[in-house]
Amino acid sequence: METVVSGIRPTGNLHLGNYFGAVKNFLKMQNDAHCFFFIADYHSLTTHPTPADLHKSGRQVLAEYLACGIDPDKSVIYMQSDLPQTAELYLLLNMNAYVGELERVTSFKDKIRKQPNPINAGLLTYPVLMAADILIHHAAKVPVGKDQEQHLEMTRTFGNRFNRLYKTDYFPEPVAYNFGEALVKIPGLDGSGKMGKSEGEGNAVFLIDTDEVIKKKVMRAVTDSGPTLPNSEKPDSIKNLFTLMGVVSAPETISFFEEKYNDCTIRYGDMKKQLAEDMIKFISPIREKN
Ligand code: TYM
Repeated sequence: METVVSGIRPTGNLHLGNYFGAVKNFLKMQNDAHCFFFIADYHSLTTHPTPADLHKSGRQVLAEYLACGIDPDKSVIYMQSDLPQTAELYLLLNMNAYVGELERVTSFKDKIRKQPNPINAGLLTYPVLMAADILIHHAAKVPVGKDQEQHLEMTRTFGNRFNRLYKTDYFPEPVAYNFGEALVKIPGLDGSGKMGKSEGEGNAVFLIDTDEVIKKKVMRAVTDSGPTLPNSEKPDSIKNLFTLMGVVSAPETISFFEEKYNDCTIRYGDMKKQLAEDMIKFISPIREKN
């Protein structure tokens, strides 16, 4: 059986981006692979949570893993810091990770733009710790969203470098995985960029959001005054609404609104109402189990 590894940082509740980028694939993979799904508590320390917040969020992610359907009889669920060998491998891999290549990582550049001085070294070596998480299990597949693709490239670089240096084939090459399809990027509701925990109020829809909250967030999503020419190119904010429909709504619903967009009769209020309804249908059973 193939080995599968993935983790989520305990930095708050899970949102639809986490679900469709990662957890959905965890569920599909747990039946026929040897799965390790962990809670990346070490990784979340780069932003210095209080101990109380860290413990609370760790338990919350665990509850959400279970509520989504990760089955502890099929998958190993663990806290990253409970496997101290990860930290040991991280130290060893750091000896052959270059500062220059770490400084060029997109997620590092983004983070230092948002969080200027002082930059902690944990942020710089974040991809090395992630490589240790994956390589420690000799994993073949890593189900993650699009934003983690470059980190997987680095993981392969570090594993291969180790193999070359010590003339071994000890570490296999893991791949970021989504069942033969492109990796997913779920957009947020604020018209730009991805859904994220720290992207601002209203951008993310969480798996614990009540029906009312979901409705409110979706109805406030950014739109524009609507297309004026048939079959025109969609602006980003509208593309995002369609992408979100793509994951929670039925194909007929999506083609209905596509047609309305293309012949310029679309009413975004109706579209958002439908989107909120479909999100509620998807989220409420998970919330109930949480
Ligand atoms: P984290 O906690 O930011 O996100 C957890 C998972 O959710 C995915 N994700 C998304 N996918 C699609 N669209 C979005 N808007 C979206 N937002 C989040 C992420 O791609 C990820 O799969 N570094 C990792 C945690 C980690 C890890 C690992 C993952 C640490 N070690 C080893 C895999 C293997 C992170 O910060 O994920």
